Amino acid sequence: MALGNESRHGMWSSRWLFVLAAAGSAVGLGNIWKFPYIVGEHGGGAFVLVYLACILLIGVPIMMSETLLGRAGRESPINTMRKLTTTHNKSRFWVAIGWMGVVAGILILSYYAVIAGWALFYIWRMASGTYEGATPEFAQETFASFQAEPLHMMAWQTLFMILTVYIVGRGVIKGLETAIRWFMPLLFVLLIVLLGYSSQSGGFDEAVTFMFRFNWESLTPQAVLIAMGQAFFTLSLGMGTIMAYGAYLPNNTSIAGTVFTIAALDTLVAIAAGLVIFPIVFANGLATDSGPGLMFVTIPLAFSMLPGGAIFGAVFFLLVSFAAITSAISLTEPALAYLVEEYNAKRRRVSITLGVLCWLLGIGSVLSFNAWSDMPLLGQPTFFALVDHFSQNILLPLGGLLISLFAAYVLPKTVLAEQLGIRSGFGRTIWVLLTGIVAPLSVLLVFISALWPGGFDRLLALVA
Ligand code: PFF
Repeated sequence: MALGNESRHGMWSSRWLFVLAAAGSAVGLGNIWKFPYIVGEHGGGAFVLVYLACILLIGVPIMMSETLLGRAGRESPINTMRKLTTTHNKSRFWVAIGWMGVVAGILILSYYAVIAGWALFYIWRMASGTYEGATPEFAQETFASFQAEPLHMMAWQTLFMILTVYIVGRGVIKGLETAIRWFMPLLFVLLIVLLGYSSQSGGFDEAVTFMFRFNWESLTPQAVLIAMGQAFFTLSLGMGTIMAYGAYLPNNTSIAGTVFTIAALDTLVAIAAGLVIFPIVFANGLATDSGPGLMFVTIPLAFSMLPGGAIFGAVFFLLVSFAAITSAISLTEPALAYLVEEYNAKRRRVSITLGVLCWLLGIGSVLSFNAWSDMPLLGQPTFFALVDHFSQNILLPLGGLLISLFAAYVLPKTVLAEQLGIRSGFGRTIWVLLTGIVAPLSVLLVFISALWPGGFDRLLALVA
């Protein structure tokens, strides 16, 4: 497919805007909320090392595949896949990649907005001094009582959805680019300020040891799978977001270099988030393995025990909110671009419709923490857990698997050569090895283990 065309939705003003936009999508709740608590639960150092290997060996090749497919098609993921399969006479089956991405984006955004709403509320909660002189019980109870009030949670979820819809409705340049130009530099500045603060808190050395000491004993096969799944979620892979963003990437940009930069930025932020959180946790003698509550119970408590904690705690939750919003806007792009293309609809109108849909679905997640907390669904403990499991553990790995297979084995070599600039030799061998073998096999493993709990351990037992 010839290079040189432009997307009808607009184009990033430069290569750097693509880097910032994709990094904005990648850096989110996954880095600041989830990464530190799973590192905490899986014992630190060895887990971090496996995670880095997953980013490099699985994340980077799949991100390159998504970007090159997007740029080759220059449309929404669904229409990009239609165009590529029609032009090159391939099976229409591959268009499923686009459809799965649309569904995954809507599902993920529905609960992402709920958790991001908590972060918005906690900016206010920290700044107003709620936690001054707080005890661990108080921190626990205030979080529990907030979760017990669906209307209160919905108010913050609604605010977050309105912000998201407003930004995406304004379009690629006026909406997305403007938000990214402001929020991403601010995010990096806030992170550096917080790093300075946490390095003075007294627990920095302990935190560094915890995160980088290779304690192999704590590394279970399950932890390896969690590291793979996290590498996937954190880089926003498997659902066409990066494909949609890649469609707006100028032609004269090296995909490999750009993708490495994005993956490096995402990883740096995840590590930095750990280095902000763990020192203050250690400085106060709190537990590192408190799971999802780490951010909303342990962190407010830890900040409140330090000088200037109310302000720096508020800054921390502002950082989380910026990170969440730049990810949320990317979650809508595959569906939004498709509906605009298909129905020639106004972007603003489509974004409101999508926003309302995600908001309605999100109410199910809000209720999962209170009225519906005892209502198991399809083998999952709550509606929230079901949506999270289905999107993150099934749709994303399946999408990633199909994307890597399509890029490695179905897409004509000429398109690959044109997009990546590699024709033969070492570069091509590495590409086929990673995209065609290592990445799909690893993703298949994550996928099987999600569908068949305990199956991975049984497979290992068979081999051993
Ligand atoms: N990468 C985001 C995070 O780490 O929070 C989550 C995400 C955003 C996943 C966009 C998928 C996506 F398409």
